[in-house]
Amino acid sequence: MSQTPESFRIRRAIVAGGSGLVGRELLRLLEGDSHFEEILLLTHREIPDLDFPKLKKMQVDYEDLFSTAEAISGEVLFCCLGTTRKKAKTPAEFQKVDLDYVRKLARLCVYRGIPKLSVLSAEGASTQSPFLYFKTKGEMEREVLELPIPQIDILRPSLLVGNRREFRLGETILAKAIPILRCFGAKFEACPASTLAQFMLNRAKEDRFRKEVFRSNEITSG
Ligand SMILES: NC(=O)c1ccc[n+]([C@@H]2O[C@H](COP(=O)([O-])OP(=O)(O)OC[C@H]3O[C@@H](n4cnc5c(N)ncnc54)[C@H](OP(=O)(O)O)[C@@H]3O)[C@@H](O)[C@H]2O)c1
Repeated sequence: MSQTPESFRIRRAIVAGGSGLVGRELLRLLEGDSHFEEILLLTHREIPDLDFPKLKKMQVDYEDLFSTAEAISGEVLFCCLGTTRKKAKTPAEFQKVDLDYVRKLARLCVYRGIPKLSVLSAEGASTQSPFLYFKTKGEMEREVLELPIPQIDILRPSLLVGNRREFRLGETILAKAIPILRCFGAKFEACPASTLAQFMLNRAKEDRFRKEVFRSNEITSG
């Protein structure tokens, strides 16, 4: 099942979290990219409004992901999963999505010989962070990077901006505050979801076969 870099040709992308802000941008770009013949979208619920010619949807139970593992194959897996502390209600529920499910998807890459993994983390991710969000992202990165997957891209965007379908008060306030913060010398810049998705796609098409962490300023500067 595993592919060596020598015999490598990218053909099918697997996307988890495709219904989110970054995931939707990525699906749109994959659909228009001739390198990819098929997109396998893993979903945990029905998403009727997502429909493209190349798109094949597969409903999975992330609690029991390996029961459907044999049906999942491709050359690259893009993980755009994530929840918010508010939606998750408890720290354990938050970690279930942002750590456990991501870890499962990474292990699936090992099991199914998927040679490239592109995963969303966040600027500030650190196992030492006192904040649950950044600590969880840091732990996720550490665990994923330990796995024997030939190419791992970890993306650390700062605040994401784009055409979000839901209203998030904190993110809206922060986005509006950025120009003011910059007047006071802060170097903070938001990361457009479309720029991030294009960056993920470009990196995935390069056959680097190494593990890298990309900071937000690298993503926004291309
Ligand atoms: N928002 C920011 O400013 C920001 C900044 C830096 C990094 N990030 C990170 O970037 C990633 C993507 O962000 P985003 O804003 O695109 O996320 P988003 O719009 O909230 O989308 C998240 C995706 O994860 C899926 N998901 C959520 N809970 C799930 C569950 N219990 N089981 C299975 N799937 C679940 C969602 O599916 P449904 O919608 O179908 O439920 C959706 O497809 C996240 O890891 C986030 O932490 C975000």
